Amino acid sequence: MKLLPSLSLFLFLVISSASSASILDNFSQCLSDNTEILIPFSKAFITPNNSTFLPTLQSTAQNLRYLVPSVPKPDFIFTPLLDSHVQAAVICSKQLGIHLRVRSGGHDYEALSYVSQIETPFIIVDLAKLRSVQINIEDNSAWVQAGASIGEVYYRIAEKSKTHGYPAGLALA
Ligand SMILES: *[C@@H]1O[C@H](CO)[C@@H](O)[C@H](O)[C@H]1NC(C)=O
Ligand SMILES: *[C@@H]1O[C@H](CO)[C@@H](O)[C@H](O)[C@H]1NC(C)=O
Ligand SMILES: *[C@@H]1O[C@H](CO)[C@@H](O)[C@H](O)[C@H]1NC(C)=O
Repeated sequence: MKLLPSLSLFLFLVISSASSASILDNFSQCLSDNTEILIPFSKAFITPNNSTFLPTLQSTAQNLRYLVPSVPKPDFIFTPLLDSHVQAAVICSKQLGIHLRVRSGGHDYEALSYVSQIETPFIIVDLAKLRSVQINIEDNSAWVQAGASIGEVYYRIAEKSKTHGYPAGLALA
């Protein structure tokens, strides 16, 4: 007879914890299931209650019109540390029906990389921590991760060669 109340309490807890799992909970669970290298979550996720959320959101935004409070904000910002994390983020967004915006250098005046006005909820996958630049002068080739800025690319080329270069620029609206 004593079992009954605790059993129903247990069931209630199971049910309520399942339905109260947030998008972030579900997403991070899915990421763990889909990556071999564990993600240090405290470093990879920035939630709106974190004081670094707005500064991070604004960090590469070029169009201030899309930063006003009335513009929808992402549920969280995910900053992958490895390219396999990006792959997992795409898989998990699809699986969980979360809309995904990918931001690299932020050269984006329509704010498509950090705002969604139509599809909610949405998250930002911010590639700011994937910015390695490998220059191979002998091969005339370069491997550049999407988060690197043009200045960083130029710098790494200039370190290796005084004659290699290519035209690029920053457009100001
Ligand atoms: C998280 O996943 C659980 C189990 O699939 C589901 O019941 C819940 O609604 C999900 N939460 C959100 C916010 O989508
Ligand atoms: C806030 O975010 C930063 C950067 O992701 C992280 O290092 C820090 O632990 C977070 N703080 C809290 C209270 O979640
Ligand atoms: C911020 O929110 C996340 C999930 O939304 C939660 O896990 C975390 O504990 C919260 N941090 C603080 C400092 O309130």
